[in-house]
Amino acid sequence: MATSDGKKIMCVGLCCVDIISVVQSFPVEDTDQRSLDYYWRRGGNAANSTTVLALLGSNVEFMGTLVKSQEYGFLKTDFEAFNVSIGNCAVYDEGNIRCPVAVVIVNKQNGSRTIMAALNNIAELRYEDFERVSLENYRWIHFEGRNNVDTIKQMIQRIVTYNERVPVDEKVRISLELEKTKRTDLIPLMTQPDYVFVSKEFAAAQGYRSKEEAVSGMVHKCKPGGAVICAWGEDGAAAKTTTDDVITSSIFPPENLVDTLGAGDTFNAATIYALSKDRTLQEAVTFGCKIAGAKCGVVGYKGIKGLQTLL
Ligand code: ADP
Ligand code: FRU
Repeated sequence: MATSDGKKIMCVGLCCVDIISVVQSFPVEDTDQRSLDYYWRRGGNAANSTTVLALLGSNVEFMGTLVKSQEYGFLKTDFEAFNVSIGNCAVYDEGNIRCPVAVVIVNKQNGSRTIMAALNNIAELRYEDFERVSLENYRWIHFEGRNNVDTIKQMIQRIVTYNERVPVDEKVRISLELEKTKRTDLIPLMTQPDYVFVSKEFAAAQGYRSKEEAVSGMVHKCKPGGAVICAWGEDGAAAKTTTDDVITSSIFPPENLVDTLGAGDTFNAATIYALSKDRTLQEAVTFGCKIAGAKCGVVGYKGIKGLQTLL
């Protein structure tokens, strides 16, 4: 089901291959043990969020860089299988730049995921790439905060300028994710988006000790009416706009924790989904936790399909 006006949600950021080994218990260094399972999965925060949005029924597009390497066919086929368009991506020939690949250990006992990502001299998106995008086709553009900070700033500014000259119902809503602790240079970009997603790790590195402290402490950096949303692992999530009180949701634990890889990306996507349907911040954050909880109980993302009925 596409959004009622046919407009898309775009997620801008990383796409990589996750090579996942499922183990019975976390390995001890320099030992030799059997894995229970092994598979490739399309990964990267923005790419994962497009998968979840598509499974919830949104019309969705991934925007980032791809490399014509041996992994390219796998990634392209997988995007197609999930109905995620990639038509505006910047596609590079393989050479100095290779496809980013993460080796991930998923521990079957508790669903924990240990990620070792090789970015392989990744080409980050350039502003020229984003200029190809016709903004009138989108209802929402989400940015994963990566190290092309100046480019992200320019891309967001392009949308802000566009929004100034279109009627309210044509405006493109903007969200930004601050995840990696060292990316503090993204903080000045918080002044423009409608919603800023801050990870537990990022907030903790800024000195916040809880999700409530994090959203209360960071929201003053947002534009008037903007909001900060923070997922805090097993403690659920909180959000706050510049005007209203903090709202929170606890987690929705699955029967068995089997795979937490991409829980945060799932939370972001499901929250965006609900907000794109004009639900309240409280409803959206609760839905984000419900879908992220459901995801932790299944391998990969396919089990999310159809769960928009929980909204
Ligand atoms: P990340 O994948 O970025 O580390 P988090 O660990 O913060 O993300 O989790 C994001 C969301 O996923 C949480 O807000 C919560 O709703 C859900 N979640 C995480 N861990 C669990 C869990 N053990 N049980 C149920 N839900 C969980
Ligand atoms: C999960 C994820 C993985 C990827 C890694 C990149 O959030 O996007 O799919 O390997 O993080 O940092």
